[in-house]
Amino acid sequence: KDRPRVLSGIQPTSGSFHLGNYLGAVRQWVDLQKENDAFYMVVDLHAITVPQDPATLRQNTRISAAQLLGAGLDPEHCTLFVQSHVPEHAQLAWVMNCLTGFGEASRMTQFKDKSSRYGADSTTVGLFTYPILQIADILLYQADAVPVGEDQRQHVEITRDIAERFNSRYAPVFTIPKPYILKETAKIMDLQDPGIKMSKSASSPKGLVSLLDEAKVSAKKFKSAVTDTGTVVSYDEEQKPGVSNLLRIHSALSGQSVEQLVAHFEGKMYGALKTELAELFAEWVTPFQQRTGAFLDDPAELDRVLAIGAEKARAVASETLATVYDRIGF
Ligand code: ADP
Ligand code: NA
Repeated sequence: KDRPRVLSGIQPTSGSFHLGNYLGAVRQWVDLQKENDAFYMVVDLHAITVPQDPATLRQNTRISAAQLLGAGLDPEHCTLFVQSHVPEHAQLAWVMNCLTGFGEASRMTQFKDKSSRYGADSTTVGLFTYPILQIADILLYQADAVPVGEDQRQHVEITRDIAERFNSRYAPVFTIPKPYILKETAKIMDLQDPGIKMSKSASSPKGLVSLLDEAKVSAKKFKSAVTDTGTVVSYDEEQKPGVSNLLRIHSALSGQSVEQLVAHFEGKMYGALKTELAELFAEWVTPFQQRTGAFLDDPAELDRVLAIGAEKARAVASETLATVYDRIGF
């Protein structure tokens, strides 16, 4: 390894990414690709933890890869691939399942949240063990850093525990990864309910900013974002969670600090912040959508990029898996 390794993934579940995915994760992926040996993947194996229609899943996987390219991932600078193209993920996941305690896995809060949403009868064992597949995802590449949103911190922590367990039980095979989480954008909130994170499964349509929606649809959502009954634009996560969320989004898109923005909006009402944010988002999303569309219009090129990515990923993953199998006694 000549440079630090970075690994992360995103689900293709609903086709369009949302603003939380972009600001919490994908933007950091783009920033990290040049200085690091970066591996990024569309995690279709994770998608089938909940029911998927095959044709839709296939299409959404391509749309997801195109969005990652549209957001600025450059196959010259990173390895972009689809998880199911690299069979070692499922293979190492089995080993990880056998190293993880049932009680330990039961403490994963994402599972509690998601399973309560679907109900016990629709909850699969796959959903329960998905953090363990994620352990395999990360360790296969000997990742040093995992750029994710706050909701994934617990999964990186358990990955560290299991890597240490394997290293002490068998042999020092795995790099111990660290989460790479930027505080300001780690948790983008739902625009209608700033008490919950923006999420494709939990947000209402008005609370979720989808990157592939027409800019004017998103503009409406920004303009009708739930704030509070006050009028002064200031940052206060407790008293003004809605306004604070809009300020953090603005800051991330404009590059201005929250303090600068508060000064800028002095004497103006919430409407001014919302209008400016809608414009700022449109300026970013319009070229993003054009680039994404161009990749979708050239299926052969997308296939080529993903095939090269899978080959590069497999070279690393197969080496790790072979070492693991050997140390275990296979
Ligand atoms: P979702 O949580 O919407 O199902 P994924 O699980 O595919 O999306 O998450 C992809 C990446 O986006 C992860 O790194 C996750 O931490 C990040 N992410 C998801 N929602 C948010 C959010 N509201 N704010 C910041 N980051 C987020
Ligand atoms: Na790179």
